[in-house]
Amino acid sequence: SADDLAAARRLIDDAANVCVFSGAGMSAESGIPTFRDALTGLWANYEPADLATPSGWRRDPDLVWGWYRDRAETLRTVEPNDGHRAIADLGRRKKLAGGRVSIVTQNVDDLHERAGSTVDAHLHGSLIGPRCETCPYRGDADLSLARERPRCPRCGASLRPDVVWFGEILPKLAWLNASAAVGQCDLLIIIGTSGVIRPAANLPLLAAEAGTPIIEVNPEPSALTPLATVHLESTAAAALPAIS
Ligand code: APR
Repeated sequence: SADDLAAARRLIDDAANVCVFSGAGMSAESGIPTFRDALTGLWANYEPADLATPSGWRRDPDLVWGWYRDRAETLRTVEPNDGHRAIADLGRRKKLAGGRVSIVTQNVDDLHERAGSTVDAHLHGSLIGPRCETCPYRGDADLSLARERPRCPRCGASLRPDVVWFGEILPKLAWLNASAAVGQCDLLIIIGTSGVIRPAANLPLLAAEAGTPIIEVNPEPSALTPLATVHLESTAAAALPAIS
C-alpha cells in the first residue's frame, strides 16, 4: 500500500547501514526460475536430490556437472533487473553519505555484481567458477562452461560446482561476513526468499532479536513475514525502485 511504501522509504532514508538479504525471487524477473521451478525442460524428470546433493554428485558427477553448466550458460543470457539496479544505486548513495549497503545472498547467480553491487556473502556459493574437491584451486567463469567435467590443473582431482548442496556446511567466510553484515546493519531488507532453508534463514532472526527494523519485499507471505516491520506485497523489480 502507499502507506507501506512511505514507511519503507522513511526506514531506508533513516538508515546508514542497510543489509540486503536476497533469495531466488530477487532474480525471478531476470528470467532465472526459482530453484523448484528450475527443474523444467530436459531436467524435468530429475529430482533436486539427484542434482543438488553430495550423493547425487557421487552417483553421477557428469550429470550434475551438466546441470550446473547449463545454469551457468543460461546466466550469460539474462540481465540484472530493476531491483538489482535499484540496490546498486542505493549502495552508491549510502556510500556517499558515509554509510553502506551490504548484500547477503542465497543466490548462486552474479546479477547483484553485474548490476554494480559488491556482495558480502554468497551463502550457498556461486555458479561462477568451479572449485577443486581437494585443493584450494578455483576455476574462472569459462571453466564453469566446460562441456567435459574438468580436472584440477593443480592437483588432478575432480572439479565441482562451487555451490553448497543440501546437507553441506556453508562456507565459513561467507557465514562470518553474513553474520557481521546483519549484525552491524540498522535496517535489513529481505527480498524474494521463502525463508525456510536453514541456517541462512536464521540470519534475519539475528536482526529481529537486535530490534533492527526489517522490510520484506515478496508478493507472497514467507516464513520471515512475521519478523517484518513492513511487508511490501510486491516484486523486487517493482518495489525496490519505488523505495530506494
Ligand atoms: N520478487 C520478489 N519475490 C519473489 C518474486 C519476485 N519477482 N518471485 C517470487 N518471489 C518469492 C516467492 O514468493 C518465494 O517466497 O521468492 C521466494 C522464492 O523462494 P524459494 O524458491 O524457496 O527461493 P529461496 O528462498 O531463495 O530458496 C533458498 O533453497 O532452493 C534452495 O539453495 C537453494 O538458495 C536456495 C534456498
